[in-house]
Amino acid sequence: MAVQFPIRFLGTGAYVPSGIRGNDYFSNYLDTSDEWIRTRTGIHERRVAAPDQATSDLGIRAAQQALDDAGIGIDDVDMLICATATGDHQFPATATFIQAGLGGTREIPAFDVSAACAGFLYATTVASSMITSGMAKRVLVIGAETLTRFADSEDRTTVILFGDGAGAAVLERSIEPDQGILHCELGCDGTRADSIIVHAGGSRHPSSECTVAERMHFLRMRGREVFKFAVHRLQILIDNGLAATGLTPQDLKLVIPHQSNMRIIESARERMGLPKEKVVVNIGRFGNTSAASVPIGLNDARRDGTLNRGDLVLFVAIGAGLVWCSMIVRL
Ligand SMILES: CC(C)(COP(=O)(O)OP(=O)(O)OC[C@H]1O[C@@H](n2cnc3c(N)ncnc32)[C@H](O)[C@@H]1OP(=O)(O)O)[C@@H](O)C(=O)NCCC(=O)NCCS
Repeated sequence: MAVQFPIRFLGTGAYVPSGIRGNDYFSNYLDTSDEWIRTRTGIHERRVAAPDQATSDLGIRAAQQALDDAGIGIDDVDMLICATATGDHQFPATATFIQAGLGGTREIPAFDVSAACAGFLYATTVASSMITSGMAKRVLVIGAETLTRFADSEDRTTVILFGDGAGAAVLERSIEPDQGILHCELGCDGTRADSIIVHAGGSRHPSSECTVAERMHFLRMRGREVFKFAVHRLQILIDNGLAATGLTPQDLKLVIPHQSNMRIIESARERMGLPKEKVVVNIGRFGNTSAASVPIGLNDARRDGTLNRGDLVLFVAIGAGLVWCSMIVRL
């Protein structure tokens, strides 16, 4: 199987804030329960950023760890891409704050990619294209989110789902013939753009007293519709990836899916006939951390020795847009 993008992960990092919010926090004031949240979503607790922490602050911590892991400094990187749906500000890009926070001297390009929960994989695809084209030798990719800031505390159907966190990776060109991205699929069904959305604060509905009074600055989601879509699309993405590479599920060392709902992950795992230990699950501890969930999973698996050079990994994520990306990588 030919390598589509000859890249390797030189280093990875992750950071979650220390504040832990258990399910009982919500059942204390909302009509919900620990049991409902655990059985319907798989979430036991999530991390919540401190009041003085913005998305870039989480991203900087994860990025510095990835640089340390790679054994390089920020000045050894040619480009910085941040995937986020919950940036520090409407503009400029959160990547610019992360660049400043990392303290480099080279004025490297820094920009955001907006692909919600699929953001890290979209950004990894952009980074890999930049590397393959010769635009950059090394790219720092970050997925960072503070979704708890955008969840409506009065909406029991969404507020229980999200957590804050960040993950990062340093990518560089690989000179090994078998190493890199073997298959990558990106897509979007824009007719579903309003199925997960923050209505106000953009050019469609600029912030006003009215939008705030109507709580339009919070995330809204048609959960059941997204759930059904995600289960179905996940199957298609996995089938396409395996067919394109000629691999079987058993060839994969690990599957690292986005963490939106335990039942969505389980449906994919059961269909692939894989044992539990071959599919990364961090939703129980961290909730849905959107663009951060995949790089946090990748970092954990590298650190605990599950993933090593030569291993095949399937990454897959679906998010607001609705957008999706799947990727099969030989490490
Ligand atoms: C949000 C989600 C957990 C809801 O679970 P669900 O099993 O689909 O539940 P439903 O929306 O069908 O609601 C079932 C019932 O539970 C209720 N309910 C919803 N949230 C609840 C909560 N936190 N506590 C108790 N009951 C709740 C609903 O009001 C509904 O009640 P009703 O039957 O009286 O109307 C689930 O749809 C989901 O995970 N969706 C996908 C999320 C996702 O993938 N996001 C992607 C990117 S961010």
